[in-house]
Amino acid sequence: MKKVTAFIVMVGCVVLFSSMSAQDKAAQMKRGAVVYNEYCKTCHQANGKGLGAAFPPLAKSDYLKSMPKATIIKEVLMGKTGKVKVNGKEYNGVMAPLPAKYTAEDAASVLTYVYNSFGNSGTTVTAAEVKKIDKKRK
Ligand code: HEC
Repeated sequence: MKKVTAFIVMVGCVVLFSSMSAQDKAAQMKRGAVVYNEYCKTCHQANGKGLGAAFPPLAKSDYLKSMPKATIIKEVLMGKTGKVKVNGKEYNGVMAPLPAKYTAEDAASVLTYVYNSFGNSGTTVTAAEVKKIDKKRK
């Protein structure tokens, strides 16, 4: 009987934890969409397909898929310049650092949103991961 109770408690915990993280992700997706539309959309467009020769696509971006998450966090948070090849096309532009008004949680949310939209891989990003890389971010 004790074993059964322990098992039920265990299953209960697993269900609770996974639903909590599903909730966290839903909240990140909601906040991420707001940040995306407010900021990233100007360049990368509403459909994530980028614009002409100036702004590379995020939609199904092979760069986003192949680069380590830490690199993507660093580039989006601290900015990126120089040549970059995305889905076979070369870009050489400037992405400014993410404005300071966006918190680490905002940054984690928008990155999670991008990773889970436009046909991308489904990776998630936490505020702790952001703070580890961008140490001054609140
Ligand atoms: C002012 C325009 C601008 C804004 C705003 C902007 N980007 Fe970018 N982004 C660029 C440019 C230009 C590049 C390519 C930089 C280079 O040539 O090295 C780039 C590159 C990238 C890349 C790597 C290349 C790729 O297409 O996979 C990612 C990922 C990215 N941006 C995500 C974001 C996210 C997320 C936001 C919002 C938080 C954002 N960008 C906001 C202009 C912008």
